Amino acid sequence: MRPVIFSLFDDSQFLKTFKEEGDYEIGDIIIRSFPDEETYIKINTDVKNRHVIFIASLNHPNNKLLPLIFAASTAKDLGAKKIGLVAPYLAYMRQDKQFNPGEGVTSTYFASLLSRYYDWLITVDPHLHRRHSLDEIYTTSNYVLNATEAISRWIKQNVMNPFLIGPDKESEQWVSSIAQKSKAPFVILEKIRKDDYSVEISLPHIEEYKNHTPVIVDDIISTGRTMIETIKQLKNLQMKSPICIGVHAVFAGNAYEELLKSGASKVITCNTIAHVSNVIDLSDMIVKTVKDIIN
Ligand code: R5P
Repeated sequence: MRPVIFSLFDDSQFLKTFKEEGDYEIGDIIIRSFPDEETYIKINTDVKNRHVIFIASLNHPNNKLLPLIFAASTAKDLGAKKIGLVAPYLAYMRQDKQFNPGEGVTSTYFASLLSRYYDWLITVDPHLHRRHSLDEIYTTSNYVLNATEAISRWIKQNVMNPFLIGPDKESEQWVSSIAQKSKAPFVILEKIRKDDYSVEISLPHIEEYKNHTPVIVDDIISTGRTMIETIKQLKNLQMKSPICIGVHAVFAGNAYEELLKSGASKVITCNTIAHVSNVIDLSDMIVKTVKDIIN
């Protein structure tokens, strides 16, 4: 029996690659709201004794969490063999400690919920910072993929004389690896987050890279403030307009438009969250990993 794969929300870009693979049945699922906003769910494809895979990128996670739990529970009730979740973007990774007394460490709570309902999880570059592995919070089997190879390929093919910039300490893991793969120099900046919408960035001396193309790389672009502030500092030093690359196109509110307006020459992202800025396609890597897990 072929595995069945369902796209729960708007992640149909990955279904195309699964379809081309041919070894999967694309499942039919109905998720809708009753007039009182409770969730109705119906799986129309036979899942008995079959591997079931749900694809759901977890931006806007609060609206998605109950459908995610109900979908897995329904598949289990209908006799699915194993239930996997492909979450190219994994939410709730940044509140990974109690920064102030009384705060909830939501990354732990979110992880324990998903782990209860899914037999395995695939994700791309989760925001691991103070934690070093998803195993610290996820008890379900998890497979972490990285976009660094694909990003460095894109840089090599598209950017003349690149100079990579990681806007904060957390970004060093991605930026150093991409720099090494694309044989480009890099620098990591100091960032202080003042609040949700404001950051302070300090730039070291980088005048020697005046003739390079600055490429700012980060895992998540949310409000865009981290990138916008970095662009401001680059402008002060009269560097060239930078290219901004994010793995996950979260883009809260009108962050994308603001980032473009702030002076980025290009804003590009990987397709872990469907967005107009998606340029770097990671679907082959995801499909291959699903195949390895199931076989
Ligand atoms: C956090 O440290 C992440 O790596 C990103 O730098 C951060 O999420 C970007 O957020 P924003 O776009 O809101 O500045």
